Amino acid sequence: MTAERGSLPLQGKIVLVTGGGSGIGRSIATRLARDGAALAVADVVEPSARECAGEIEAAGGRAIAMHVDVTSKESVFAMVAAVVEAFGRIDIAVNNAGVGHNSAFLEIAEEDWDRMFAVNAKGVFLSMQAEGLQMKDQGSGGKIINIASIAGRHGPAYQAHYGASKAAVINLTQSTAKALAPYGITVNAINPGIVDTPMWRRTDGEIRDIRNREGENLESGDVTEEMRSQIPLGRISRPDDVASLAFYLASADSDYVTGQAFNVCGGLIMD
Ligand SMILES: NC(=O)c1ccc[n+]([C@@H]2O[C@H](COP(=O)([O-])OP(=O)(O)OC[C@H]3O[C@@H](n4cnc5c(N)ncnc54)[C@H](O)[C@@H]3O)[C@@H](O)[C@H]2O)c1
Repeated sequence: MTAERGSLPLQGKIVLVTGGGSGIGRSIATRLARDGAALAVADVVEPSARECAGEIEAAGGRAIAMHVDVTSKESVFAMVAAVVEAFGRIDIAVNNAGVGHNSAFLEIAEEDWDRMFAVNAKGVFLSMQAEGLQMKDQGSGGKIINIASIAGRHGPAYQAHYGASKAAVINLTQSTAKALAPYGITVNAINPGIVDTPMWRRTDGEIRDIRNREGENLESGDVTEEMRSQIPLGRISRPDDVASLAFYLASADSDYVTGQAFNVCGGLIMD
C-alpha cells in the first residue's frame, strides 16, 4: 500500500465522509481530496454537500455529493450503494455527521436525549454496518474513522446527553474494530476538543445563555475564551487540526492501528 514516488498518498482511494457539508467533515473531505482521494460527500443538508464537492472539483479533485440522514437505516444503506454505483467501491469511510446540544442536566428533555443518540450513536452504528458489509464484500480491507469527542471521555457540564452519545461512539469503535479486524478493516475514532465550527459557535451561545440564567453575566465568546485559557497549546482547534489526524488514519501509515480513540485537543485533556 506504499505510495509510488511522486504520486499522492491517497491516489486511487475512494473516501466517503458523512456530515461533509460543514466544519470538520468539510475540512476532512477537502484535505483527503488534496491527498489524491476521490470523495463522496454526504450530508442531511444536501446543498452544503454540493458546495463541498464543488470546492474539491474546482481545485482539480474528483467528488460527488449526496443526501443522507444517518438516523435512517434505509438512507445510510442507500448512501453506501450510491457511492459504490458512482465509484465502484469504498476504501475509507469517515463517520463525522453529528449534532450538539447544551442544557442544564435537570432540564434535558427526553427528545434532546433521543436526538443525540439517534444522530451521534445510532448514525455511526448504522454507517459502520453498511460500510463494513461493503468493505468485507470487496475483500481488500478498509479504514473506518469515527468522529467522537473529548466529551465522550469525561462527562462535560451542560452536555450529559451529548457526552454520553460520544462515549457510545468510542465504545462502538472498539467493538467494531474487533469485529472487522479479520477482514483487514481498521476502525478508529478521533476525539476533537474545541473546534472553531458552526457547532462550536452555537455551543458558545447556548452555554452562555444557560450560565446567564444561573446568574452570570457572560457575553458572546466568553465561554470560548474560558475554554481556550485551559488549553496548554494556547488556542482552540481549527478543523484542519482534526483533518491531519484523519489523513494519518486514512493512510497506509496507520495499517497497524485499530480500536483506538485519539484526542486532538491541544492538550485540554490528556487521558
Ligand atoms: N466543533 C467542535 O468543537 C467539536 C468537538 C468535538 C467533536 N465534534 C464532532 O465533530 C463532528 C462535526 O462537527 P462540526 O463541529 O463540524 O459541526 P457542524 O454542525 O459544522 O457539522 C456537522 C454536519 O453534520 C451534518 N448532519 C447533522 N445531522 C445529520 C444527519 N442526521 N445526517 C447526516 N448529516 C447530518 C450537518 O448538516 C453538518 O453539515 C460532529 O460529530 C461533532 O459532534 C465537534
